Order: sequence, then structure tokens, then C-alpha cells
Amino acid sequence: MDALRFNKIAAALLSGVLLIMVFGKIGNILVNPKTEISNAYPIEVPEKNETKSKVAEEVIIEPVLALLATADLESGLKISKKCVACHGFDAGGPNKIGPNLYNIVNKDQGKADYAYSKVLASLSGKWTYEELNKFLYKPKLYSKGTKMNYAGLSKTKDRANLIAWLRTKSDSPVSLP
Ligand code: HEC
Repeated sequence: MDALRFNKIAAALLSGVLLIMVFGKIGNILVNPKTEISNAYPIEVPEKNETKSKVAEEVIIEPVLALLATADLESGLKISKKCVACHGFDAGGPNKIGPNLYNIVNKDQGKADYAYSKVLASLSGKWTYEELNKFLYKPKLYSKGTKMNYAGLSKTKDRANLIAWLRTKSDSPVSLP
């Protein structure tokens, strides 16, 4: 075989290989057009916080009056354990971090012998069942600036059971609704 003939064969083989590669690429592009697009997806923009906090402000606190008569006092006693770090419930007991809560149902708000925050001292109502219900749902929502550092009881049943138990902590419990 002379050199020229060898070169021709080699060139033919090489261009064959090149063609296969080129067609392979073209084929890929045709079968998977714009592969990179499939990696792109729309980013969901979260709704503005504004809307969220508005909803939180308009919270509707479920009433407990209808639940008090059939409340579970045992459960109320258990829930009261969440309060005992700061409150006593016995007649004539001392204030702790918070005021003593004996006789609390229908008592004047923020008027016991205790150094209340401004916001509690400025209240002029009574701790009726319904006011206790609203306060205990979220103390800081009821009285912004209160020094009662407690998140609150979001479950209506828990508030009803606790308030029914609080009612018993009195010389003469207020009548049930
Ligand atoms: C971390 C301590 C803490 C815990 C826990 C706590 N409280 Fe209080 N509580 C306080 C303080 C302090 C005040 C006085 C708030 C003020 O002056 O702003 C208060 C005030 C109150 C008042 C108003 C009393 C009044 O004389 O007007 C009631 C009612 C009350 N708490 C009920 C409860 C109940 C029921 C629980 C349990 C579910 C509870 N608190 C848990 C600290 C606490």
C-alpha cells in the first residue's frame, strides 16, 4: 500500500467517525430540545406578611360559657399547674411573680394588693368568665404590655376546664351561667 492510499483510507475513516459524532449531537439536540429549560420553574412569591398579621388580629375567641357547667374539674386542676410557678390559688396565700388568684372570678381587674403593670392597673372591669376566657386565650393580645409572661391557652376546652376550676377557688363560688 503506498502512502497516499493509506492517507485516503485514514481520512475516510476519520471523517466517518466525525460524522457519527456530529449526527449524534444533532440527534440529541433534536430529541431533548432546550434541556436546561426543564430545570427552570417559577418561584412562588409568598403573600405579604401584612395579610397574615391582619388575620391574627381578627382572631375570634370561642366563648366558654356554655361549657362551664359540664367542665372537667380534674383537667382544670391539671392545667392550673401551668400557672403555679407564678400564682398561688389558696385563700390568704402570698403573691408570687403574679398576684394570688383565690376568688378571682368576678374580682376587680388589676386592683389587688400587687404591683401591676400599667395596662392591668388601668383596667376597670371585672374578671367575669368571659373576660377570663379572652385574657387566658392570649394575655398579650388582651392587654398589650402585661407583665404576665405566658403564651395562653389556645384550646377552648382547656380554658373552660381551667376557668371552671378557678371558680371553685372561692368561699362562695359565683353561680354558673
Ligand atoms: C410566668 C409567670 C406567669 C404565669 C405562668 C401565669 N401568670 Fe398570670 N400573671 C402573671 C403576672 C406577672 C401578672 C400581673 C400582670 C400585670 O400586672 O400585667 C398576672 C396576672 C394574672 C391575672 C390578673 C389578676 C388580677 O388581679 O387582675 C390573672 C387572672 C392571671 N394572671 C391568671 C393566670 C392563669 C390562670 C395562669 C395559668 C394558665 C397564669 N396566670 C399563668 C404571671 C404569670
